[in-house]
Amino acid sequence: MALMDNEEVKKGKKTYDLKIIKWLFGFTTPYRIFMALALLFMLLTAALELTVPYIAKLAVDKYIYPSWRIAELTDKETDKKLVSEIKEKYPSLVLPLENGSFLIDMSEIDNVDRHNLEKLDLVSHERYLAINQDELVGEDYKKVSAIVAKNESMFNKAGGYDYISYSSLDNLSRQDLLVLRSGEIKQVVRLASILFLCLFGVFIFSSFFTYLLNYSGHKIMHKMRVDVFYHIMKLPQTFFDKNPVGRLTTRVTNDVNAINEMYTSVMVQFFKDVLVVIGVLVVMFYMNKELTVFVFILTLLMLIFASLFRMRLKTVYRDVRRSIAKLNAFVQESVRGIILIKLYNKEIENLEKFKGVNSENYKANMDQLWVYATFRPFIEFTSVFTVAFVLWYGGLKVLSLDLTLGALIAYLYYVRLLFRPIMELAEKYNIFQSASVATENLYDLANAVPEESSGINDGEIRGELEFKNVWFSYDDKEWVLKDVSFKLEPGETVALVGLTGSGKTTVVNLILRFYEAQRGQILFDGVDIKNYSPDFLRENISAVFQDLFLFGKNITDGHHGNLNQLSGIKNINQLTQSDRNSISSGEKQIVSIGQAFSKRAKFMILDEATSHIDANIEKYIQETIKNNGNDVTTLIIAHRLSNVREADRILVIHKGEITESGTHFALLAKKGIYFNLYNLQNEIRRFSSLQN
Ligand SMILES: Nc1ncnc2c1ncn2[C@@H]1O[C@H](COP(=O)(O)OP(=O)(O)OP(=O)(O)O)[C@@H](O)[C@H]1O
Ligand SMILES: [Mg+2]
Repeated sequence: MALMDNEEVKKGKKTYDLKIIKWLFGFTTPYRIFMALALLFMLLTAALELTVPYIAKLAVDKYIYPSWRIAELTDKETDKKLVSEIKEKYPSLVLPLENGSFLIDMSEIDNVDRHNLEKLDLVSHERYLAINQDELVGEDYKKVSAIVAKNESMFNKAGGYDYISYSSLDNLSRQDLLVLRSGEIKQVVRLASILFLCLFGVFIFSSFFTYLLNYSGHKIMHKMRVDVFYHIMKLPQTFFDKNPVGRLTTRVTNDVNAINEMYTSVMVQFFKDVLVVIGVLVVMFYMNKELTVFVFILTLLMLIFASLFRMRLKTVYRDVRRSIAKLNAFVQESVRGIILIKLYNKEIENLEKFKGVNSENYKANMDQLWVYATFRPFIEFTSVFTVAFVLWYGGLKVLSLDLTLGALIAYLYYVRLLFRPIMELAEKYNIFQSASVATENLYDLANAVPEESSGINDGEIRGELEFKNVWFSYDDKEWVLKDVSFKLEPGETVALVGLTGSGKTTVVNLILRFYEAQRGQILFDGVDIKNYSPDFLRENISAVFQDLFLFGKNITDGHHGNLNQLSGIKNINQLTQSDRNSISSGEKQIVSIGQAFSKRAKFMILDEATSHIDANIEKYIQETIKNNGNDVTTLIIAHRLSNVREADRILVIHKGEITESGTHFALLAKKGIYFNLYNLQNEIRRFSSLQN
């Protein structure tokens, strides 16, 4: 049930992925409205971004660059037909001139018609500014009439219009020019204001969506973290045997972060990017098909190239992650084992090892750097190349009237909009990559089966315990307990002794349901412990473990009811208030025993609970146990046999089997394992007292 490592192959990838996505989306449920709003604001931003170049195009084509040209008429039938068609189609844009040719506003007519006119070589290259004096009123009319009158030689008349060639405009004074073009200047100012509003809108809407996305992202992350942490706490002991602390820490911290990052900067943005790209292509296509097809082909080539890079990126990225994990593990281990390193003078050796691990990380980073260093510039190069191409090809088109100047300017802007998402692809891919790995990991974690929690939850406890032919193995390979049977009557004090690794702590683990026995039965008050909820069982059994781990103050709070009374010597309250690193092993045991006593459970387990405690306090504890009398069933595990002499019964466990059982004296008389152990310890004691 160990969490799979990132690189491990997953079976049934498709359905597995779907399940993961479903699971992930489950977290977004309460924030769908925020997501939808964010998406809406994003689309508005995208729409405004698309509008900006178009406004520029309008300003150039309609108002800045004069758009009237003279179309000459020839006698050819096809020409006549075309011209009459155009006249009919755009009556207000076509001004007949005296010689049969006419003035036409090229900015307003269809691409096709413009193209046809150009193909027939009917349109002048010279541009004209045409002013309809009838449309002017008051002051403006007077001023313009004055200018026209003053420069009569430069102006010609056509219909109600006075027109002047673009090149002649140079000959006008600056002031006259401003007056003459005041209408257009007004329009340009108006468009510039709209453009400014658009950009302001982009600013406002993108602030909104950034805020909304991050707000919901943090909420989701918050909830996910709590869920994952809660789930971890419910997982069975076997899970923790297989999953190192570091890995679980990463799940709760980094992995959740990675998902948040993907949510805020990839998932929703992706929609926007796709829409912008589509929008840009559509607008470009509308302006000029041919040029757009070229740009599109270049974009496709770039995408193919980017995906090649992506593959390479995947490997280098994985290497970097691996090397960071290695580095972390190494530092963690070194700090934890600093005493051993110092004791064996391994500082230099350890440093050398660290240098090795560190240079692995360096190499991985360099590989990544190389990929980045070539990818981005390449994309940049391609985009500049595309811009240059658009400038060249589009320039030709402008000259041949296929494209307006404004459209070309807009084009250049759109090309940049088109390439921006592709440029960001590499970074986004990075985020996406780590997030998808993180999601898989978290999904696996969230689906690890938690400990059974149902079962008997209340009732009186007598404190009777029976092992009936219990077989147990941690790894399903080697039996640690073999056919173990024994019974503890309520109120009895029983000792469990045996050599190191014989299975004593394992017995305790089974009683507390940290593990389940493969065969046989464990009965508590005559009921199989599988029928109790683990919480209830643990509430009614107080246990002191061999490997102590003290929590900070908050967890021990409220539990040290009679600690002071117990210690007699040390002020336990003070001890528990202190930092757990600075408390001695014996003191730790005192605190734990105090907590166990204060629980006042009917069943008590002490696994090597007094191994670090001095004889004075140990005696005090033994007395307390004795004073508990017939009330509390006690199981004592101890290596120092002098501690268990007083027990009602002693069980000897050897290589996972109960080999002897009886009182201290009965076992001595039996001359078995217990007898040997006891003698050995006595001999050692005698030997050391002789030496003194
Ligand atoms: N979580 C575990 N996973 C796999 N094997 C384990 C685990 N815990 C203990 N063992 C193995 O099971 C056997 C019995 O271990 P146990 O802790 O019960 O011994 P013990 O009698 O308490 O020893 P000690 O006197 O040293 O405390 C040992 O060989 C040990 O290596
Ligand atoms: Mg043990």
